[in-house]
Amino acid sequence: MAILRITKHGEPVLKKPSPSVDYEAIAKDLPRLLKDMWATMHAARGVGLAAPQIGLNLRIAVIDVKPEGQPQPMVLINPVILSKEGVQEEEEGCLSIPGLYSKLRRAARVRIEALDEKGNRYEAEGEGLLARAFQHETDHLDGKLFIDHLGLAQRLKVAGILKDLKKTWD
Ligand code: NI
Repeated sequence: MAILRITKHGEPVLKKPSPSVDYEAIAKDLPRLLKDMWATMHAARGVGLAAPQIGLNLRIAVIDVKPEGQPQPMVLINPVILSKEGVQEEEEGCLSIPGLYSKLRRAARVRIEALDEKGNRYEAEGEGLLARAFQHETDHLDGKLFIDHLGLAQRLKVAGILKDLKKTWD
């Protein structure tokens, strides 16, 4: 198990859409990869982590929003959003843009399908924070960061803050 460096805004791997993976082809390396992703996410105190954040353009993410303080680890391999409903607007952040938070509108309820760590297909529905995590992590796999959703005025504001923040990142 290893805690890996998290890639930061501006690194090309975060902008590139991650292609779906062939489960059989990665099955052998998956346990190690997932262990490292969990360790890295927990060390950074995040609720989700996508493979591009450890430098790999693979369509894989992990999420644990700990409902009621209890762990609820979810592995998302080749996730697809099936449906979105409603609107929520909450403060959002990202381990790849440490120090920056912004209010962002997202769908309130989201249904996804994905493969789990054993390669079994499942569907899951999330509300609130889990719905945000589904959208945030699938965005990562599509090469998008949460700030890409901001309006022009907000993005200009963020650009100035980012310049200063970047000096503090590893
Ligand atoms: Ni993120």
